[in-house]
Amino acid sequence: MNQDNIESILEETRIFSPPQSDTSFSSLDHWQITSDAFTTDFEGTWGKLAQQHLTWQKTFTQVLDETNPPFYRWFSDGQINLSENCLDRHVKYGLGDRTAIIWQGEAGDVRHISYTELLANVCKAANTLKSLGVKTGDRVVLYMPMIPETAMAMLACARIGATHSVVFGGFSAQSLRDRIEDAGASVVITADGGYRRGVVHALKLSVDDALSQGCKSVNHLLVVKHGGNDVAWQEGRDVDWHEALAAQSDICPAEILDSEHPLFILYTSGSTGKPKGIVHSTAGYLLWAHLTMQYSFDFKPESDVFWCTADVGWITGHSYSVYGPLSNGGTSLMYEGVPTYPDAGRIWKICQEHQVTVFYTAPTAIRALIKAGDDYPNAYDLSKLRVLGTVGEPINPEAWMWYHKTIGQERCPIVDTWWQTETGGHMIAPMPFATPTKPGSATLPLPGVFAEVVDADGEVVKEGGGLLVLTKPWPSMLRGIWGDKSRFIETYWQKFANKGYYFAGDGARKDEDGYIWIMGRVDDVLNVSGHRLGTMEIESALVSHPAVAEAAVVGCPDDIKGEGIFAFVTLKTTETNDLVQVLRAHVSQEIGAIAKPDVIRFTHDLPKTRSGKIMRRLLRDIAAGKAITSDISTLENQSVIAILQGQ
Ligand code: WT7
Repeated sequence: MNQDNIESILEETRIFSPPQSDTSFSSLDHWQITSDAFTTDFEGTWGKLAQQHLTWQKTFTQVLDETNPPFYRWFSDGQINLSENCLDRHVKYGLGDRTAIIWQGEAGDVRHISYTELLANVCKAANTLKSLGVKTGDRVVLYMPMIPETAMAMLACARIGATHSVVFGGFSAQSLRDRIEDAGASVVITADGGYRRGVVHALKLSVDDALSQGCKSVNHLLVVKHGGNDVAWQEGRDVDWHEALAAQSDICPAEILDSEHPLFILYTSGSTGKPKGIVHSTAGYLLWAHLTMQYSFDFKPESDVFWCTADVGWITGHSYSVYGPLSNGGTSLMYEGVPTYPDAGRIWKICQEHQVTVFYTAPTAIRALIKAGDDYPNAYDLSKLRVLGTVGEPINPEAWMWYHKTIGQERCPIVDTWWQTETGGHMIAPMPFATPTKPGSATLPLPGVFAEVVDADGEVVKEGGGLLVLTKPWPSMLRGIWGDKSRFIETYWQKFANKGYYFAGDGARKDEDGYIWIMGRVDDVLNVSGHRLGTMEIESALVSHPAVAEAAVVGCPDDIKGEGIFAFVTLKTTETNDLVQVLRAHVSQEIGAIAKPDVIRFTHDLPKTRSGKIMRRLLRDIAAGKAITSDISTLENQSVIAILQGQ
């Protein structure tokens, strides 16, 4: 987070009482009582919730197996199918006609899909996958736009026990290839195209490109015709989604699966090397996606229309566009396009038209909407909104206040949710009608979550700054990194191995009320518009260009994106006029448009210590345009500073 935000958060003293409500968590006492239940009987409380909220194929007898930490297992002798929990049980109890998904296309088309219809399509898709040879335990990669077929494909995988891995449609063919290969997927599901800003984005073209080299594990490509554009077709390999589903039965028994069966792999960036495939289990993940809908959003499936603006290519889309709302039998809105297209009123127009009651987005979107002006939200009826959530990055108090006043009309509680791809669901967040809120703080751990701020030795900081850890396992915790046990241990568990704490990678501060304020990543991971990007990944993309000798990437303050990407580059060749553009395009091709550096500064040398380490703190100060505070006495070549500063 940039310095101005940190300062405004440190000075923040406002407290907002939760609005009155007759909901089950309507005072901080309810939060306390529920949290205490976990302190008194950790496993018993989790076990009871898992029994009450989920439908089991075979009930479990053991809640938590901690014989081999950090490889924790939850409800491990139970059996459960996630798609049955998201679909069959609602239809069985008479909710078949309820709308499961409201889909809003960018071009204006709308679809309402009932639970009955969704179940039938999921069964057909599951039978299609089977007919393509997909078996329990196989991996299926999805590279899709935000359309109902994406949710159907995820649920179809879950139904037959195929582990899905959704790759965000904005990632390049190269990134897609890396993920397909790492996961060893046998089928890729994609679309001919998806709409973004009025233009059809040719997804299948990227898949064809990815499969043109490597990806030997892939046997079939299942293609949803959606964008209406011409696509190349490889007979025998490519299968038309609609044609294939039409030929299948709408009945497909839900596979009997163990609680710990790997539900999905989702790739995320780390501070070193290639993106890591975060593995989530079935039962534990589902339980927390289900419960947090109620804890953090006060979700009422019979009356709420829930809209999470995240793409399903990210964990937020998995847990809160698809699995959380559907497991509760509620209505989830999916929007295909860009939130500011054709203008900055699009989000508010959708809220009005579909009577959205709970809205969940990222601070970066809020900041962009603030910039567009209040006339946009003021032109729409937002009176149905009752809870407003944010996720992905620290929210600056000004953005929080605007969300609270202009969008929430001071009526809607603001729920700032801290969590990660690895945690599966919210960890630190207010309960909207129970927890008093403070602008910029994610407030308190949810019931069942044991979070602390600790010093470098792992000692708990009662008040003040430190590192954020989770001191107890939780059901929706990641089960590992796909194919890399040691990286899993090193990344999350090594730092506080003597205590057995999970290290989140974030810095945080605890105030006098025990409220937690997230201060941002403490590793070499950038948070750009709420998306995680590894500096090393961008550096390797840059040095893979023939003109580049060396690159160092750091974050820089950005008013809208929270953090921007600043690259310092040394060249093998002489600088040409278009080189900045060429390198930005190269990074885009290697990783995806989200990783394009905002600034590229050429230098003949990078600042290094005598032992050869790049002085990143110095580069961060320079990128922020700040006075240099780092100790530069060990810098070999001091004259490089003026060049780095662009002078
Ligand atoms: C990182 C996780 C899981 C949601 C989407 C991002 C940052 C997330 C907040 C918040 C401050 C936040 C952290 C975290 N982050 N939510 N409410 N306040 N920071 O998931 O890509 O796995 O990134 O996002 O730095 O470690 P992700």
